[in-house]
Amino acid sequence: MPVARAAVIGAGTMGAEIAQVIAEQGVPVTLKDVSQEFLDRGMRHVESVFRRRVERGRLSEDEAQAKLALIAPTLSYDDLADADFVIEAVPERLTLKEAVFAELNRACKPEAILATNTSSLPVSRLAKASGRPSNVVGFHFFNPASVMKLIEVIVTPETSEETVQTTLEFGRRIGKLPVPVKECPGFLVNRILFAAMAEGMRYREENDATIASVDAALRERAGVPMGPFQLADLVGLDVLLEIGDVLVAAYGERFATPPILRELVAQGRHGAKNGGGFYSREGTPIDLGTKPADPERLVQQVTAASFLEAFRCLDEGIVTDPKDIDVAMQAGAGWATGPIAWADQVGLGAVVALLSALAAKVGPRFTPPERLKSLAEHGGSLRDALPSP
Ligand SMILES: NC(=O)c1ccc[n+]([C@@H]2O[C@H](COP(=O)([O-])OP(=O)(O)OC[C@H]3O[C@@H](n4cnc5c(N)ncnc54)[C@H](O)[C@@H]3O)[C@@H](O)[C@H]2O)c1
Repeated sequence: MPVARAAVIGAGTMGAEIAQVIAEQGVPVTLKDVSQEFLDRGMRHVESVFRRRVERGRLSEDEAQAKLALIAPTLSYDDLADADFVIEAVPERLTLKEAVFAELNRACKPEAILATNTSSLPVSRLAKASGRPSNVVGFHFFNPASVMKLIEVIVTPETSEETVQTTLEFGRRIGKLPVPVKECPGFLVNRILFAAMAEGMRYREENDATIASVDAALRERAGVPMGPFQLADLVGLDVLLEIGDVLVAAYGERFATPPILRELVAQGRHGAKNGGGFYSREGTPIDLGTKPADPERLVQQVTAASFLEAFRCLDEGIVTDPKDIDVAMQAGAGWATGPIAWADQVGLGAVVALLSALAAKVGPRFTPPERLKSLAEHGGSLRDALPSP
């Protein structure tokens, strides 16, 4: 089904930029919020993104005005009757989102697809609340949505194939890289990203390393834009703790965050947004650790932890193509290479050897899975790790 008109619910940080992205690609879009004040703030933000496009010579003034005019701000659900594809981007609270999905079911035509930009809530719960579960899908953008290319398309057991195909097509139509992901806690990118962050933080604890040396070593040697402590400050320590708790509840201790994270949140240090977290506003790290990190060992551990999580995602059938994992980590987290390309490059035998060595030296969390060992022994590829359809 071609999408002739879209709608976005919530004109905040994400919603305003999502509407901008859609309009920039020439698709008319209705933008709904609950008060004129929030709607005006969202539209001012949309205008500022278009202004930057004009300043950078990407659009002419006339083109920007014409595209801006494709966005129809509203306070009423009545204006959603002709939308083909609706993206919910209201605050991350399950009961609020459930109420919005029930409302959307009443306001939208029966064939409309209802998508959610949730980062961590179960899409199936929203599907249930919508009364039309086969038309519900996750459509998870990354911040800032006007820049980041990835969209995780979260597929629940009830999402229809037609919904998936229309969603992937629409994602490409608006200039993004949509990757289908089977619903699971943390989805794909956050699972692997948090596994990498948790390992970086655990390395610091176990080796009494300084925060700055861990961040610097990973930035300089692991092809990631930021080390775990810098990234934590940017994401917000409170948000990180919340997602970390969801991941621990779902998968266990491998996602455990260090106690210092909870302590900083309790002290009201939430990261860059409120004046400091692991670093002060001036960039001074908190006093933690006394030794410099060993860059080689640290990069090995973080790479191994990322790969192990990626392998679990393959084994669980979270993606349909191993390459999608690399695409997602590059386009969603800014990594230079993904864990699958890394393993292909070093070879599965060498990956198993590295994991076994780390398991012996550092701890059992690196023990190579039996299935990986068997693939390595029989000359299989990572594609063979996917469950058979
Ligand atoms: N901020 C991020 O980095 C990020 C990244 C990816 C996904 N997300 C997800 O996107 C969603 C929105 O996050 P955000 O950071 O844009 O939040 P936000 O608080 O900036 O914006 C939410 C907007 O929704 C509006 N709203 C509240 N209730 C509403 C309702 N019933 N109907 C219509 N509008 C309503 C609010 O007035 C506000 O303008 C969340 O699910 C979040 O998890 C956020």
